[in-house]
Parts: sequence; C-alpha cells; structure tokens
Amino acid sequence: MDDSNKMNQSNTNGNEYFVIKAKDNGVHVIGLTRGQDTRFHHTEKLDKGEVMIAQFTEHTSAVKVRGKALIITKYGTVDTEE
Ligand code: TRP
Repeated sequence: MDDSNKMNQSNTNGNEYFVIKAKDNGVHVIGLTRGQDTRFHHTEKLDKGEVMIAQFTEHTSAVKVRGKALIITKYGTVDTEE
C-alpha cells in the first residue's frame, strides 16, 4: 500500500474507539474488511455483560452487531433492540 492509499486516520476516524456491551448471551461482533472487497474477517462472540472495546483500523471499516447489545460511540448509544 503506497502513501496515497494509506488510510489517513485523522480524516477517516480510522482510529475511533467504540464499545459493545452484550445484553444477552451469544452476541456477535463482526468485523468487515476495508477496501474493495467487503467481507467478514473476524467474529467475536460475547456473553451477557461482556464488553468489547475496539477500533476502526486499516483492516476494519465496518462492524456488524448481531443480538441484543448496547453500541456506544462518540455519536451516542444505540440499543440493537429498539
Ligand atoms: N485485526 C483486526 C483489525 O486490526 C481486529 C479488529 C479491530 C476487529 N477492530 C475490530 C475485529 C472490530 C472485529 C471487529 O482490524
């Protein structure tokens, strides 16, 4: 990856943190790849009360959450149940 292609973290919020708190057992936090090819690259399973703190990175541009959870970001908190 050359310099022009490199993610500019200050522009893309590529280093932004978010928090997922599972409200049920078996919540899945799925990371999707950055770039032309959008696919799942990692699935993390959380049980009730477990918390995952993660970032958007060079490898991860989107996250899908499956199950009952709170998604806490600088934009606010989203409850997947609502
Ligand atoms: N290796 C992944 C990365 O650096 C780890 C990761 C970061 C991740 N954020 C994530 C995995 C969000 C799942 C969901 O991009």
